[in-house]
Amino acid sequence: MKIIETVAEFRQEWVNLKELESLSLGLVPTMGFLHEGHISLVKKSVSQNDVTAATIFVNPTQFGENEDFEDYPRDMKSDLDFLDCEGVDIVFVPSLEEMYPEGFETSINVGSIATRLEGQYRPGHFSGVATVVCKLLSICRPDRAYFGQKDAQQCAVIMALNRDLCLGSEIVVGETIRSSDGLALSSRNSYLSDSEREKALSLSNGLFAARKLWRSGENASDRLRSVVLDEILSGNSEVPVEIDYVSVADKNTFMEIDRIEEVENAIILVAAKIGTTRLIDNVALV
Ligand code: PAJ
Repeated sequence: MKIIETVAEFRQEWVNLKELESLSLGLVPTMGFLHEGHISLVKKSVSQNDVTAATIFVNPTQFGENEDFEDYPRDMKSDLDFLDCEGVDIVFVPSLEEMYPEGFETSINVGSIATRLEGQYRPGHFSGVATVVCKLLSICRPDRAYFGQKDAQQCAVIMALNRDLCLGSEIVVGETIRSSDGLALSSRNSYLSDSEREKALSLSNGLFAARKLWRSGENASDRLRSVVLDEILSGNSEVPVEIDYVSVADKNTFMEIDRIEEVENAIILVAAKIGTTRLIDNVALV
């Protein structure tokens, strides 16, 4: 596995490989502190491409002022071991200065999709995501780039970015990987104490309960939202919980839906702070 720190070196390495041997490249962008969710995307890429590159870059522009950029968990050594074991060929680990050199002022203005849900609660977040992903796709020029359904709205933003700016990669979305009790894997789960982790399970449990109710014929979004809310707010846990949203939305536009039969691709999403840790999760209504 080759570790690359600069754009120029990546271009040279990859251009050499691609042009000499006409190989396909899969790209898995990450912020590191890797878990099985990330690895599932890596496995997909390794199975679908001749060459797989992963990137590890904690991108400051997608964090709000009072968010956890400084504290975001990092473990480069274990990440590199993980990626090496999975057969990744190239890891791109740019420095802050490499990605945002002095004078960098460009940012991507994402459309209306980025004003809702995550965009509403994390102003500027999707602009930061879109800018860094645009850079990574432009630097690496992958045939396919891999993202997780866990961050459903991020996937939609990246698909729009790729389409609108003709970036030319195929965007592949991998399913959400969960621990055996249902909690969606996330690098931020490492912040949770035992009691907070227990409480965090109410997010996935609420989503599963709402999906079950929908599968039994309930189409009213407010009923489904109530199921999720009740699950999160029930119990006498001492752990403070602050819900940002529970939403039943169109999976493509992220517009709120009243009745599900009117929309083909509905998704239920939740974002909440469990203690001081903000978590998101979602399930598709399928
Ligand atoms: P990060 O949170 O490190 O996630 C990297 C990729 O892994 C994203 O596509 C995310 O959706 C996916 N992922 C995370 N948890 C997952 C899970 N439980 N199951 C499946 N996939 C999962 O998302 C980012 O980084 C950044 O915003 C990034 C796209 C790298 C831009 O900075």
